[in-house]
Amino acid sequence: MTIILERHQNDLDSKGKVMTKRRRFVAGNWKMNGSLDANRALLNDLVDSVKEAESDVVVFPPALYVQQVSAIVDGSNIAVGVQNISAEKSGAFTGEISVEMVKDFGVKYALIGHSERRTLYGESDKDVALKCKAAVEGGLIPVICVGETEEERENGKTEKVIKKQIVSVIEQIGIEYFKEAIIAYEPVWAIGTGKTATPEEADAVHEFIRCTLKEYDANISNLIRIVYGGSVNASNVDSLFKKDNIDGALVGGASLKAEEFTKIAFAK
Ligand code: PGA
Repeated sequence: MTIILERHQNDLDSKGKVMTKRRRFVAGNWKMNGSLDANRALLNDLVDSVKEAESDVVVFPPALYVQQVSAIVDGSNIAVGVQNISAEKSGAFTGEISVEMVKDFGVKYALIGHSERRTLYGESDKDVALKCKAAVEGGLIPVICVGETEEERENGKTEKVIKKQIVSVIEQIGIEYFKEAIIAYEPVWAIGTGKTATPEEADAVHEFIRCTLKEYDANISNLIRIVYGGSVNASNVDSLFKKDNIDGALVGGASLKAEEFTKIAFAK
């Protein structure tokens, strides 16, 4: 509950109607990039350059570098997340990392169901649901990623695919787990390709996601932050952020350049 109060401000418009302002969320997904030296150089710049940003700023380094990154950003307004998390608490799960382990290093967020995890590592909607449950129960904020492929979009299946990805999580664990969650809409065809969804295309899907959530809980649908990802950069971010339903960005390639990522963190 406290988190929700921190994240959102309710304002009254001229007619006295309550309007929700959702705090912007700008996150850098570093994917499998970085080194001790490169991370230090990037973060030394960022810690300073995003100091005055009004958005929530988060970086998602490879898990191995979380300890280094947490130490560097300590005391700054940059938070740290992991790119994946186990749904299990501990035990014989070779290669996996648990929620409690990453919390030892100050991690606050977990990306869940990124399209690269779904397509390259076979993560199912069920895995996404269980990871989301484990993250919330352990006190991490899940950033649940959804998105359609190019073929699905061309065949008019975007809404059907997105709805299935969201509803199957809700049906397995319950809508209450979305209270603390963030949703990232990342069309697979826009990731790392330089092809961005137009602001109109993205906004339409974000609105569709909000409507889908509304069937379960109107309050959550109104408060949840839905961020866009897929070739976001300093030049296209402003037009995306002008849209009512776009509450921020999940940035891949452009998050590895301090100047570019800073511009995104300050975009209005
Ligand atoms: P991109 O990646 O910005 O390089 O397209 C986004 C993502 O995969 O999160």
